[in-house]
Amino acid sequence: MGRSLLFLLAAFFAVLVSAVRDPIGEVIRLPSEASRFFKAPSDDGDNVEEGTRWAILIAGSNGYWNYRHQADVCHAYQLLRKGGLKEENIIVFMYDDIAFNEENPRPGVIINSPHGDDVYKGVPKDYVGGDVTVNNFFAAILGNKSALTGGSGKVVDSGPNDHIFIYYSDHGGPGVLGMPTSPYLYASDLIEVLKKKHASGTYKSMVFYLEACESGSIFEGLLPEGLNIYATTAANAEESSWGTYCPGENPSPPPEFGTCLGDLYSVAWMEDSAIHNLRTETLHQQYQLVKERTSNGNSMYGSHVMQYGDIGISSNNLFLYLGTNPANENFTVMDNNSLKLPSKTAVNQRDADLVHFWDKYLKAPEGSPRKAAAEKQVMEAMSHRMHIDSSVKLIGKLLFGIEKGQEILSSVRPSGEPLVDDWDCLKSLVTTFETHCGSLSQYGMKHMRSFANFCNAGIRREQLADASAHACTSVPSNPWSSLHRGFSA
Ligand SMILES: *[C@@H]1O[C@H](CO)[C@@H](O)[C@H](O)[C@H]1NC(C)=O
Ligand SMILES: *[C@@H]1O[C@H](CO)[C@@H](O)[C@H](O)[C@H]1NC(C)=O
Ligand SMILES: *[C@@H]1O[C@H](CO)[C@@H](O)[C@H](O)[C@H]1NC(C)=O
Repeated sequence: MGRSLLFLLAAFFAVLVSAVRDPIGEVIRLPSEASRFFKAPSDDGDNVEEGTRWAILIAGSNGYWNYRHQADVCHAYQLLRKGGLKEENIIVFMYDDIAFNEENPRPGVIINSPHGDDVYKGVPKDYVGGDVTVNNFFAAILGNKSALTGGSGKVVDSGPNDHIFIYYSDHGGPGVLGMPTSPYLYASDLIEVLKKKHASGTYKSMVFYLEACESGSIFEGLLPEGLNIYATTAANAEESSWGTYCPGENPSPPPEFGTCLGDLYSVAWMEDSAIHNLRTETLHQQYQLVKERTSNGNSMYGSHVMQYGDIGISSNNLFLYLGTNPANENFTVMDNNSLKLPSKTAVNQRDADLVHFWDKYLKAPEGSPRKAAAEKQVMEAMSHRMHIDSSVKLIGKLLFGIEKGQEILSSVRPSGEPLVDDWDCLKSLVTTFETHCGSLSQYGMKHMRSFANFCNAGIRREQLADASAHACTSVPSNPWSSLHRGFSA
């Protein structure tokens, strides 16, 4: 049984790796269509510099196999500092278990691209470890110090003329974003917080960049216009987002890393911002560039970058939110329309952990304890996936019958509509499921839509509890908790 699963996995990775050995040219000319967005700097008074720039940077994961999310966030911090933002105005949330992780081949250093510089040095430890919570994130946005538990106490203490940039990178699922701590971050709660922040009159405009699977579902049908918030997301409401600079890709990380170094949408906006004069590049221009790069040539290894909220804000220059590096003064997007594209492939966020475990398995010497441990990790991760997938499926059948069950599990509301109307129902069904079947964990968040559909079909907590109890007579040990202990620094 165990062996045949390994063979299956080998086949899975053979497909993945053969696909990734097909790089395209690294530097391409932008199609002339895109060049239309490169307009000359204007001084039309729309972007008058005033107010303070604030930023919240947050990585929602932990574990060495999720190296890339914290690498993204550290990179963003360096970018903003080079842009001129002050440390006191940048609030960083990261678990901080990567730099000194026993698996990190360069202790004390984090990189976000294969030849990249250290991005870890100097990053403030505002909220680390168990302080990376939904509650602290919300308190930081709202500038409410008394709502904090732990951490440095830094919050967005903004005034009416200020500009706020929020960047989040992690796993997600329909309507939900991951956190290294429990509970998950639900879209409805985030939107409530943003509305509250708007009502407090403590910003002029806000930009939200969001990298996660199904990240469009966080704003779609939920973020209203009129809050002076412009959001872009790595993916639409129904698809994965993608890791990049992964083992087996071109370019790939130095071989000793064995993990993805970045995420496609994230490195796209940061690598663009790092080389240009942001006084002359608009949010809209960056959206176009990032959309192009993240689509990965419209291949199956890319996603659709989306925009939500007050789209008009995207005519602002990036400078208003990110500042600009004085060294880039002479590099307007217009001067340099060559765009560095990654390889044609990337790794699905949800498979990036398997890529890491598989890489470890392949590299470990035959017959070594390390090989056995890596094999165990792969097997545990796979059996956890199968357990979650089959339980959700079975519950759908128990609740609605064989045919209707499948339909309810996978149905998608028309675009523009939120995932679910009753978010309390969604939360309570997820908790109920997890009580009987174990934690969904980062992989299982993909089933959020099924739970949302149960709510939309009128299923109540007691019915789900019944079905879950039948479906999950035994729960395999949650591999993530044991893996996590194994990887802690
Ligand atoms: C700040 O948080 C505390 C604790 O949650 C709450 O009681 C208070 O109302 C909040 N203040 C504001 C201004 O929202
Ligand atoms: C930009 O170009 C001007 C004119 O050539 C030059 O004086 C200036 O030093 C350049 N700035 C940077 C940062 O290289
Ligand atoms: C454009 O930028 C790339 C790096 O992104 C650089 O290699 C290239 O020389 C630049 N081209 C021009 C014309 O400045």
